[in-house]
Amino acid sequence: MTLRRRTILTAGTLALASAMPALAQKKIVLGFSQIGAESEWRTANSESIKASAKDAGIELKFSDAQQKQENQIKAIRSFIAQKVDVIAFSPVVESGWGTVLREAKAAKIPVILSDRAVDEKDDSLWVSFMGSDFVEEGRRAGRWLLENYKGQGDVNIVELQGTVGSAPAIDRKKGFEEIIKAQPRFKIIRSQTGDFTRAKGKEVMEAFLKAEGKKINVLYAHNDDMAIGAIQAIEEAGLKPAKDITIISIDAVKGAFEAMIAGKLNVSVECSPLLGPQLMQAVKDLKAGKTLPRRIVTQEGVFPMEVAAKEFPKRKY
Ligand code: AHR
Repeated sequence: MTLRRRTILTAGTLALASAMPALAQKKIVLGFSQIGAESEWRTANSESIKASAKDAGIELKFSDAQQKQENQIKAIRSFIAQKVDVIAFSPVVESGWGTVLREAKAAKIPVILSDRAVDEKDDSLWVSFMGSDFVEEGRRAGRWLLENYKGQGDVNIVELQGTVGSAPAIDRKKGFEEIIKAQPRFKIIRSQTGDFTRAKGKEVMEAFLKAEGKKINVLYAHNDDMAIGAIQAIEEAGLKPAKDITIISIDAVKGAFEAMIAGKLNVSVECSPLLGPQLMQAVKDLKAGKTLPRRIVTQEGVFPMEVAAKEFPKRKY
C-alpha cells in the first residue's frame, strides 16, 4: 500500500515537472506592424526590433506594410485575431487609426506606438508612445542654419518633405519654420514631398533646380535619404553640394556621415532608429502588470560635417 502510494505520488510529480518548463517557456507574443523599407533609417529600425525581440526571448510577428496604411490596418487586425499579447506599430500617417485601435482595445490587447504618433483624440487607445521629438529635430535643423549660415541678404531655402500626412513630415516642418521665422530673410521658396526616399529626393531636387537654378542657397531635407538623392541631382546640375548649396538633413545614418566626410552634406540632425531594446522592455513591463510612461522620448544630438570623421566609427546605424 505504502509502495503503491509512493509510486502514484512520483508519477504525479513527474507529470507536473514535465508541464512546468512548458508553462515557464510560454513566450510573450508581440505583433509589430512596420511601415516598410523606405530609408536607411527604417531598415536599421526593423533590424533593431528583430534583434532585440530575439535577445529578449519575445516571439515577434513582424509585418511589412510597404508604405501602405491599409496594409498596416490589415496586419493589426490579424494580430488581434491571433490574440497576440501586445501590438506595436509605427504609423505611416497620423490620421485614420481610430477604428482599428478601438478594435484592439475591445480585444484587451495593449498597443504601443513606436517611432511615430497618431492624431486621435482618445488617447486611451494606446498605452505608450516611444520615439523622437520630431518638432525638436526641426528646431535643431533651424537653429543650426541660423547659427552657421554665412551668406548675407535673402536666403532661399528649398524643402524636401517626408511622406505626406506623416508625423515626422508635419513636425519637422513645424519646428524648422518656428525657428527661421525669427529672421525673415530666411525664406522657403519651394517645398514638396520626396516621400523619405532617395529616388524621390533626387527627382524633386531636379525639379527645384530646373525651376529656381542658382537662386537656391539651402536645402532642408526631412531625412538623409532624400538629401543623398538630392546631392546626386545637384552634382548632375554642375553645382557643388554643401558649397554652392548648404544641405541640412535629419537621421544621422551612416550614409549621411559618408556624405559629410566626402564634403557633400553640411549637417545631419540625429533621429535614432534603435528603438528595439526599449520596446522589448516595455512589452515585458506591460506583461508584468506595470504601467508604462505615456511618452518615452529618445535622446539625440546634432552632427555637423566637421565632426563626421571622428564620430563615424562610433555609429551603429
Ligand atoms: O519616422 C522616422 C522617419 O521615417 C525617418 O526620419 C525617416 O528616414 C524614416 O523613413
